[in-house]
Amino acid sequence: MTQSSTIRWEQDDDGVVTLTLDDPAQSANTMNAAFQASLHAVADRLEAERETVRGIVLTSAKKTFFAGGDLRELIAITPDDAQRAFDGSMRVKHDLRRIETLGVPVVAAINGAALGGGYEIALACHHRVALDVPGSKIGLPEVTLGLLPAGGGVTRAVRLLGIADALLKVLLQGTQYTPRRALEAGLIHEVAATPEEMLAKARAFIAAHPESHQPWDVKGYKIPGGTPANPRFAANLPAFPANLRKQTGGAPYPAPRNILAAAVEGAQVDFETAQTIEGRYFVDLVTGQTAKNMIQAFFFDLQAVNSGAGRPAGPAPRTVRKVAVLGAGMMGAGIAYSCARAGIEVVLKDVTPEAAAKGKAYSEKLLAKALDRGRTTEAKRDAHLARITPTADPRDLAGCDAVIEAVFEDAALKHKVFQEIQHIVEPDALLCSNTSTLPITGLAEGVERQRDFIGLHFFSPVDKMPLVEIIKGERTGDEALARAFDLVRQIRKTPIVVGDSRGFFTSRVIGQFINEGVAMVGEGADPASVEQAAAQAGYPAKVLSLMDELTLTLPRKIRDATRRAVEEAGGAWTAHPADTVIDRMVDEFGRPGRSGGAGFYDYVDGKRAGLWPGLREHFARPGAAPIPFEDMKERMLFSEALDTVRCLEENVLTSVADANIGSILGIGFPGWTGGVLQYINGYEGGLPGFVARARELQETYGPRFAPPALLLAKAEAGERFTDA
Ligand code: NAI
Repeated sequence: MTQSSTIRWEQDDDGVVTLTLDDPAQSANTMNAAFQASLHAVADRLEAERETVRGIVLTSAKKTFFAGGDLRELIAITPDDAQRAFDGSMRVKHDLRRIETLGVPVVAAINGAALGGGYEIALACHHRVALDVPGSKIGLPEVTLGLLPAGGGVTRAVRLLGIADALLKVLLQGTQYTPRRALEAGLIHEVAATPEEMLAKARAFIAAHPESHQPWDVKGYKIPGGTPANPRFAANLPAFPANLRKQTGGAPYPAPRNILAAAVEGAQVDFETAQTIEGRYFVDLVTGQTAKNMIQAFFFDLQAVNSGAGRPAGPAPRTVRKVAVLGAGMMGAGIAYSCARAGIEVVLKDVTPEAAAKGKAYSEKLLAKALDRGRTTEAKRDAHLARITPTADPRDLAGCDAVIEAVFEDAALKHKVFQEIQHIVEPDALLCSNTSTLPITGLAEGVERQRDFIGLHFFSPVDKMPLVEIIKGERTGDEALARAFDLVRQIRKTPIVVGDSRGFFTSRVIGQFINEGVAMVGEGADPASVEQAAAQAGYPAKVLSLMDELTLTLPRKIRDATRRAVEEAGGAWTAHPADTVIDRMVDEFGRPGRSGGAGFYDYVDGKRAGLWPGLREHFARPGAAPIPFEDMKERMLFSEALDTVRCLEENVLTSVADANIGSILGIGFPGWTGGVLQYINGYEGGLPGFVARARELQETYGPRFAPPALLLAKAEAGERFTDA
């Protein structure tokens, strides 16, 4: 066909045209300029040869069906480019619409992942058959990058599924479905086991619809084009904003807001106008800061972190075959589950056979649930469980090439268990501790091979939390670091590499957030407002409720140990205003947190009942000026951001991508910011704007908000926080 096309045209004797997406310049098909030109040319040719065309099959020659927009191009769009971005999105939509309304059946033969732009192309077809291959995903995840699907995705999803399902199942969560689940949710019409079956089904659909005058443009649409203000639908509208608030906690995520508006407004007008509305809301997002933050974090930073930017390049990649998990408590049981899921043999050791068996029972429970929900098969469940051997006998650890220790948080006990097993496991086994607070360098002194000793800090619940913090001790070797990195990737988690210091990166920085929330209570702030400020800043957990979950005695213990260590080393200890609140809560009021039955909240039968009314009574400061709501939010965000800069200064962190990803995936720093350092980059006025605001906070709330030297230097040099 025409020019150097990214779309191949083949027509058979029956008049069926197969359009194969196959960009010769790339390993995946994307919505680049070449594709846009090819699509336009194909639409022209189809219209010109309309009389000879019986039907159209749209498929791809790549592993994925279509990869969607080019994020490198999207992240660079500035407000000055708004019109160009709008015109680009309208051009693609217009050409898809020409094919859709040609008057012949068009079938998408979805041979691999069809996410975002890929699913939008499929949506423009009248029938969708997907190949059921592992790893293939279908959906519109744009919202997770702060965008909305502007290739007709909002307009068609609403018309295909109805507004409620379109918003809740597809658009607002950005859910990625397997082909089978996409079928159940009504996103596609058929699945096929083989490529041949997929193409046969596509052709069968065309053969079964010989009518060439079908009104294809309204296929399956629940809101026929041109119906203004459908009254039944209008009556349902008030529920959507409420639902939306529940999902975003009122946080500053513009994408859900724009998606909602595009869907609601678009559903009340004709198809073409709806597409224009969708385009306008898209441009608003793509030129804004939040989408740039989210693309940076969830695409570029995540890719950098997972692809091994933090892994020493020298050591050859290795895989773990058999792992010893020491301690079958909450963390050990979860680690065993995750390792076995990745195909690793696990020996799960505890002090008694019963305790070890209880740890394995945790996997049984998770797998029973997965089976129930159709997320696994009986065969896979059995194989998964067969890989976990519970034991109380150290001799069963023979042959293990890695050890992950998760016994009680007690240095002497940790030393003891490593001594017990270090000569039983393989002589070069990787030795990891899942300690959450104890310095790795000190723990390593308990083993003979200190070069092979490293921290592997998982998060709870292990099966769900994607992050693992890898902690280098002073004597940890590069080989061990590389192996730890490979192990984390082997179990399909995201590794960040941090230096050995109390609390490492994540626990230390989340401590700032919690302390800031607690300090505000001590200043007489309304506790409900403090919780609301955390939610509106975008934190997934409210600050006082999080403190209650962790229990107030734990940070107190860590604080006191740190103070002793600092003072023993001759340093000066700076108290935090939160300290006295925590001390009073525990000592004076006997409220240590959820596990103690009372904390910042009251609990009834173990369930959170409401904020403790005594907070206002005991911490009120009559006459004190109220803390502005904006200050409440920014105190939490700034306290974490500033401490992260100090982590960079102290070499606890060496990579910006690690900081951003670790903060979002590990400790719930709000995703709209793009991560804790991207928050500084994207702050109004850039780094100088952030510095100025930090100084204001410092003046009003104390020296902990003083901008660190590294931040000042970067602000002065006109730099940003990047790894490049
Ligand atoms: P846990 O109390 O649920 O489990 C500890 C287990 O270790 C118990 O089953 C105990 O019987 C077993 N154990 C004690 N002595 C043993 C020995 N000599 N040999 C084998 N097993 C022995 O504790 P959890 O919460 O699982 O924590 C374990 C470690 O993980 C701690 O170091 C903790 O600081 C760390 N951690 C905990 C997190 C959490 O959210 N709970 C998060 C990240 C790390």
